[in-house]
Amino acid sequence: LRDKNLVCVGDFERYGESILPKNALDYYRSGAGDEFTLALNRDAFRRLRIRPRIMRDVSCRDQSTTVLGTKVAMPIGIAPTAMQRMAHPDGECGNARAVGAMGGVFILSTLSTSSIEEVGAAAPNTVKWFQLYIYNDRDVTRKLVKRAEQTNFRALVLTVDAPVFGIRIADIRNKFTLPPHLSLANFEGIKATGVKSESDSGINEYVKKLFDQSVTWDDVRWLKSITQLPLILKGILTADDAAIAAGLGVAAILVSNHGARQVDFTPASIEVLPEIVKAVNGQCEVYLDGGIRQGTDVFKALALGAKMVFMGRPALWGLACGGEDGVKSILSIIKNELDSVMGLTGCATLEDIKKEMVVHESHYSH
Ligand code: FNR
Repeated sequence: LRDKNLVCVGDFERYGESILPKNALDYYRSGAGDEFTLALNRDAFRRLRIRPRIMRDVSCRDQSTTVLGTKVAMPIGIAPTAMQRMAHPDGECGNARAVGAMGGVFILSTLSTSSIEEVGAAAPNTVKWFQLYIYNDRDVTRKLVKRAEQTNFRALVLTVDAPVFGIRIADIRNKFTLPPHLSLANFEGIKATGVKSESDSGINEYVKKLFDQSVTWDDVRWLKSITQLPLILKGILTADDAAIAAGLGVAAILVSNHGARQVDFTPASIEVLPEIVKAVNGQCEVYLDGGIRQGTDVFKALALGAKMVFMGRPALWGLACGGEDGVKSILSIIKNELDSVMGLTGCATLEDIKKEMVVHESHYSH
């Protein structure tokens, strides 16, 4: 890694994309449809301006915070992304170890290529949450919940924006297939573990066959009834749905458009963050993912009310470039960038990052 001189997340993106095989690269990189929202997830951050305060004592800077009652060293975690061992043999285990070493939070995908138990054993000290999909066969979901509980995962992240998967054009062209030496590790001996199709994206075929498209808010109540773990809903994009979720007593909302992979032309997640923070009015915690690539992005999301942010694709590039060490590098880059912007805007702690320090660019056009 050192001789490649990768010093920002963009460097990891370019190098990672140059070495990944096409089938995996397209799966990781793609958004839905025209990829309008995929670009917007980045552009929307570029339209926000930071208003620094000066002459405040910043000699001692601290990024630690508390999420769901657990202390973490930085407000940055890894979003759940499927099939990480396509990027590097370290896969989910290496990713979880890296973020644990940096003091963030790891969210393991249901569709992982390392099992709940493997990740639990590889990264016992990492704060881990488990991402869930609801299967037609409720027993499948119930068993995943029990295994996550038994393996010391501390929260469940129910993805609520995926009754079906979005149309990702490159995956259809490639007839996306999970390489034969890998499998969906949480389902050994339970369900179809292969992901392939003769005519379509293999992952979309899998989801169409096995996920429950009839899910409603009643299923959130059901999930709450079968577990003591705190429940986070991932994929909310409107104040109306945020208010319903908060009313049901969820522990947190992860504002997300699924990395722009579901419906093209949804807003960027950073654009909807303020209305969601307002709608939940402190009833639950609010996090964000989508387009976080540098420390200033983290600062902007925190100023607009997120307690924590998560990154999906950057960790995949980190893995592709250098396995566990690659993920550690991208996390320390972002952490260092956040430290820089905090120091230069008069913020010694995350509480000092105030709403009025971030404005839309239109604030300056008269
Ligand atoms: C995802 N995402 C996702 N979300 C989820 O709840 N379960 C999953 O299995 C996956 N899988 C997945 C695979 C890949 C390749 C990507 C890129 C994304 C969405 C993910 O959790 C997150 O919302 C986005 O990745 C955040 O956007 P960035 O950081 O990639 O811009």
